Amino acid sequence: MKRIGVLTSGGDSPGMNAAIRAVVRKANYHGVEVFGIYHGYEGFIKGKMELLDLGSVGGIIQRGGTKLFSSRCPEFKEKKYQLQGIEKMKEAGIEGLVVIGGDGSFRGAYELTKLGLACIGVPATIDNDIAGTEFTIGFDTALNTVVSAIDKIRDTATSHENTFIIEVMGRDAGDIALWSGLAAGAESVIIPEEPYDLDDIITRMKRGEARNKKHSIIIVAEGVMPASKLANMLKEKAGIETRITVLGHIQRGGSPSAFDRVLASRLGARAVELLLEGKTSRAVGIKNHQVYDYDLREIFTAKHKADTSLYTLSKELSI
Ligand code: F6P
Repeated sequence: MKRIGVLTSGGDSPGMNAAIRAVVRKANYHGVEVFGIYHGYEGFIKGKMELLDLGSVGGIIQRGGTKLFSSRCPEFKEKKYQLQGIEKMKEAGIEGLVVIGGDGSFRGAYELTKLGLACIGVPATIDNDIAGTEFTIGFDTALNTVVSAIDKIRDTATSHENTFIIEVMGRDAGDIALWSGLAAGAESVIIPEEPYDLDDIITRMKRGEARNKKHSIIIVAEGVMPASKLANMLKEKAGIETRITVLGHIQRGGSPSAFDRVLASRLGARAVELLLEGKTSRAVGIKNHQVYDYDLREIFTAKHKADTSLYTLSKELSI
């Protein structure tokens, strides 16, 4: 294999640039050229690409976002566009593709492998919701962004003796809520993986008040309900007034944490190795601190499971 492509697709995540850098540098180390494909599968279909040399990925390891831009591309679901993209790759002499992204990006990569293009998936999303890997690139940075925001909100919540509901991202997964709730000592955490009990949330607040603790932080994952809905429920059921904060896209930006940079470097480099070993339809992931690879089809068969022991622990520690 003498030439490969790399693209980033779906919602961006901090560390994608570090992964691109690792792909380019590792491939160059082995004498393989890398073309960066712009705007995810949209650029793939149109053949929007450029040779990335060693220098072109200098100074990006610390930058959030993605140098290659990203998109969500509905057309790509159609086979005729997939074939069109594969043609563009053939014309450019590209024999393998590294796809950096989330669940949808992996599904796209799998379709391409069925049409004969070698693809390896590198999991990158703040949601941490990809089956087969314990951590995705960007989750740790997003988590730290959320924790730092909660810490700030707690300062003002304490001063004014307010209850805050903070809505965090994660799509259908509760990892961001769960980990940030534990890390920031939230009084209650609501995640899609566990049923919530409004009475329990109210009891916790009342118990706090009895100890003269008049502020409270509740984290709600966007996959359960909007913060505004929970605010209405608490008002109707117990007359509790709350302030709400929807953290939004701030969670997707920022300089990647050291953990994410290292993870991205390891996974990006391993993806290149797999292509050079002649492998296809694999994803790279991390398990027990070790990089490994698994069948891309796990995206269809396995489901990411949030570590709900953290949920139990956060409840125990926030009595
Ligand atoms: O998958 C990453 C993510 O940020 C989710 O947490 C969120 O639900 C979604 O993307 C938001 O997507 P968009 O930026 O397209 O609104």
